[in-house]
Amino acid sequence: MKPPNFSSAAFHRDAHAVLAQLRREAPVCKAKLTRWQSVYVVTRYADVDALLRDERLVKNPRNALGDDAKREAVWMPKVFRALLKSMILSDEPDHRRLRGLVQRAFTPRRVEALAPRVQALADELLDALAGAREFDLVARFAEPLPVRVIAELIGVPPEDLPRFQAWTRAIVRAPTPFNMLRAAPAMRGFLRYIAGLAQARRQEPRDDLITGLVQAEAEGERLDEEELVAMVFLLLLAGHETTVSLIANGTLALLRHPDQLALLRARPELMPTAIEELLRYDGPTVTSELYYAREPIQLHGVEIPARAIVLPAVLAANRDPAAFERPDALLLTRAPNKHLAFGKGIHYCVGAPLARLEGRIALETLLRRLPSLRLAVPPDALRRAPVPIVNKLRALPVAV
Ligand code: HEM
Repeated sequence: MKPPNFSSAAFHRDAHAVLAQLRREAPVCKAKLTRWQSVYVVTRYADVDALLRDERLVKNPRNALGDDAKREAVWMPKVFRALLKSMILSDEPDHRRLRGLVQRAFTPRRVEALAPRVQALADELLDALAGAREFDLVARFAEPLPVRVIAELIGVPPEDLPRFQAWTRAIVRAPTPFNMLRAAPAMRGFLRYIAGLAQARRQEPRDDLITGLVQAEAEGERLDEEELVAMVFLLLLAGHETTVSLIANGTLALLRHPDQLALLRARPELMPTAIEELLRYDGPTVTSELYYAREPIQLHGVEIPARAIVLPAVLAANRDPAAFERPDALLLTRAPNKHLAFGKGIHYCVGAPLARLEGRIALETLLRRLPSLRLAVPPDALRRAPVPIVNKLRALPVAV
């Protein structure tokens, strides 16, 4: 088969079918991340599970490419280089130090305390839709909810949200040199804004995550200014891009499986296993973020050369018949459910408890308050964003 291009509309039109064929016929496959970048994509559950914990794969390009990393990054606008200090692009020991600074904010107990606030935000968004017959569930509900939650947690004032959303939209496009150049002004604005927020908290601490980071910075060597900005940027971005898709893809999957939807309406206590199954069935990301091979890796007769980019495809692993019974069926009672939607190993999603809470409250509120919710267009008319890594609906028109 022709290797897919992971940022093409053709791939995203039926990602599950393309990935199923790869999993059967070419479980390690050289493909295109963008038109310019080649990657090795791995699709079987056992391989994805193992590679995400394999020390031969690293995140920081410098640890695989050495000095060549600098040459690779020459086209990158300087503002983007500040983000190379983010924990999702770091290896040990930097990664452990950075993660230790924020992990406390996302423990299940601290996150559970946010439930009333998440519920209030979900209700507010649905109140604003009162009387609407048709609306885009992504723009009006799935997107604003996680953005507001993560912004509040970090300490971004609500009045700054519109600016913040415009920036993220510009920045989240495909990671190609062209798009990075195009997004550089937005990025510059964003970074300046975060630095300003940090400055304000140094002078006047509050009970928010950015104050915690500023205090860690003040305590010595634990965090420098670039790392602080990169951390806030990562949390803002990772904290909402994916959760949007848990809510939107999850709603779509339920609307397309009326029997499962009816089951969930009849037995709301199934919500926790339902969320896990929705994450497995059509999760928010196609793959993890980029990994680099530090040394050659042999797998299924293919040699992944040293310095190559490797992408474990969690979306494909989560439908592997070798790991799940009836993998293409949506079964909300499925348990155990060892899906890999949050990754695995040291970079396992730090925000998973928050994502689960938001997904649970969002879907529960949606189903309770909009009992006649249905798709407003045929499923074939829905489009996914033609960008790598994420599995995101551009819009989800629904009717009530
Ligand atoms: C359903 C929603 C979410 C999904 C499916 C998801 C998925 C993932 C995945 C697959 C990874 C590992 C990436 C890799 O190995 O390259 C990851 C890491 C991460 N996620 Fe999430 N995520 C979600 C929500 C969130 C939320 C709400 C936050 C909030 C702060 C968050 C913050 C992060 C961070 C900071 C990392 C990097 C962790 C590290 O490098 O140690 N994510 N996420």
